[in-house]
Amino acid sequence: MRKYFPFFLTYKKALILAPLLVIIDVFCEIVQPELMSKIVDTGVGQKNLSYIYQTGGIMVLLSLVAIAANIGNIYYSSHASVGFAAELRKGMFSKIQEFSFSDLDRFSSASLTTRITNDINILQEVIMMSLRLLIRAPLMLLFAVVIAVRINAGLASIIAVAIPVLAITIYVILRRGLPFFEKMQKKLDQVNGVIQENLINVRVIKSFVREDFEERKFSFTNNELRKIAVKASGTVVLIMPVMQLVMNISIVAIVWFGGNKIISGTFQVGQLMSFITYITQILMSLMMLSMTIMAFSRAEASSERVLEILNTKPTIVDSITAKEKNVQVTRGKVEFKNVCFKYHAEGSEYILKNISFTIAPGKTVAIIGATGSAKSTLIQLIPRLYNVSSGNIWIDDMDINDYTLKNLRTGVNLILQQNELFSGTIKQNLKWGNATASDKDIITAAKYAQAHDFIMAFPEQYETVLGQSGVNLSGGQKQRLCIARAILRKPVVLILDDSTSAVDVATEAKIRASFNQYLQKTTTIITAQRISSIQSADQIILLDHGEIIGNGTHGELIKTNTVYHEIYASQQLQKGTVR
Ligand SMILES: Nc1ncnc2c1ncn2[C@@H]1O[C@H](COP(=O)(O)OP(=O)(O)OP(=O)(O)O)[C@@H](O)[C@H]1O
Ligand SMILES: [Mg+2]
Repeated sequence: MRKYFPFFLTYKKALILAPLLVIIDVFCEIVQPELMSKIVDTGVGQKNLSYIYQTGGIMVLLSLVAIAANIGNIYYSSHASVGFAAELRKGMFSKIQEFSFSDLDRFSSASLTTRITNDINILQEVIMMSLRLLIRAPLMLLFAVVIAVRINAGLASIIAVAIPVLAITIYVILRRGLPFFEKMQKKLDQVNGVIQENLINVRVIKSFVREDFEERKFSFTNNELRKIAVKASGTVVLIMPVMQLVMNISIVAIVWFGGNKIISGTFQVGQLMSFITYITQILMSLMMLSMTIMAFSRAEASSERVLEILNTKPTIVDSITAKEKNVQVTRGKVEFKNVCFKYHAEGSEYILKNISFTIAPGKTVAIIGATGSAKSTLIQLIPRLYNVSSGNIWIDDMDINDYTLKNLRTGVNLILQQNELFSGTIKQNLKWGNATASDKDIITAAKYAQAHDFIMAFPEQYETVLGQSGVNLSGGQKQRLCIARAILRKPVVLILDDSTSAVDVATEAKIRASFNQYLQKTTTIITAQRISSIQSADQIILLDHGEIIGNGTHGELIKTNTVYHEIYASQQLQKGTVR
């Protein structure tokens, strides 16, 4: 609960006012039956018309105050709960932004979306409900019991029987029902998961003609949810009729005993009337309480899931030394010293083993190896998207852990293998990496990345809108925009992870040539599977199953490294057969 306090802070006023208004409302309502009984017993009994008017006037006035207090309560409760939800969403969103890649590996994006929407909505509802009912119900219960006892302690003993009966029944029903609600929440998570995965991959599903399979998968999960939901509501619907029964029996008992008392002259009609109203209020309050408890238990599962995110400590953060030093990457020397890495701390085997190499500033280095040889893994360690398991990575002769993440990632720009653009114009996308870039810079970067020509071919050119409502780019066009976006950041070390895989060989060569010409000072690290596309690199590092098995220029490796030679020969052969 303490974790949630900061999200309430802005709404302190509403949080105090809402319960205060409830107290006023309860007070106005609770005296009504008493006044009513006075009208009947004193006003009507003694035929005192002015008393009736007077008391009636007070009743109307109190009703108006109650209505006003109630409206105020609704206003402040919704203000606080909706505001809390918005703050919490904001908090969760920025927390997720802090997540490192390994944190992100733990939560699927479907689950993150469910948590940030559905779970927060449930919390919002329960807060709204608490602000309305949590104080109202016990207060009403207390007042009503006290007044009922005061009116007639003997009759009030009926409550002493009715309350435990009702309380025990509600308890038993909730105990049976609540586990179903918890399960329901989990099932709902699964349904959301299936829907989201399906929507993200809808094109794949269509091209594989797997709609039927997906529909069956969805129906199954959906059905499970339905079954649990039916069971859950099936148990709790019992609360209402049980309550009705207890209430009616209590009223009959009160009328019976009270009637006898009236006949014997020790009780009055008005008193009986108000007594019945108080009993109804007592039982209604109990019902409200049980509903609140139910809502709370249902919200617990959601709360746990929200807290799981809020409590996640991002694994990659700035060290104190890094903040103190506040050094920028300037030259672009990259050094690996005995680096080992595995994705999961427990058990699993090392993906990278004893990696050591040095890249001089401004050089172009290629990392090649078969698919799965850990090329992407290796380069993701340089901007600290993952932390090394052991060993060190140095940039400009300083450990990367001694740079702040901001400085490190400004200096080292990685174009991920699966790169994405955002919806918006081409220009907005390019500027996304560097908000201060001028139009001239943008055009230059696009030219280096061989993107300028295809951009100019669009009628709207750099203002072309991408995404859902606009143009869809080809894979190769996207890749070139991603390269241009990275160049615009003017990084000291530029890393391209298979970033030209969807670009034809001729264009790829042009990109490389413009890099050689214009980005001479930039250390460029490129991963690739085709030797032909990186042949001219200053240095080539050959990876095999997470180990370096060759390091040198193309000329050196061809002569000294048999594996390299074989790969080269086989790729040349393939090229020959294709042609
Ligand atoms: N996020 C991850 N969590 C756990 N294991 C991973 C993760 N990413 C990659 N791996 C594993 O690490 C190994 C190396 O993968 P990596 O993506 O680095 O290879 P790669 O050389 O880049 O391959 P490709 O040429 O296909 O891009 C693979 O066995 C893969 O299963
Ligand atoms: Mg890869």
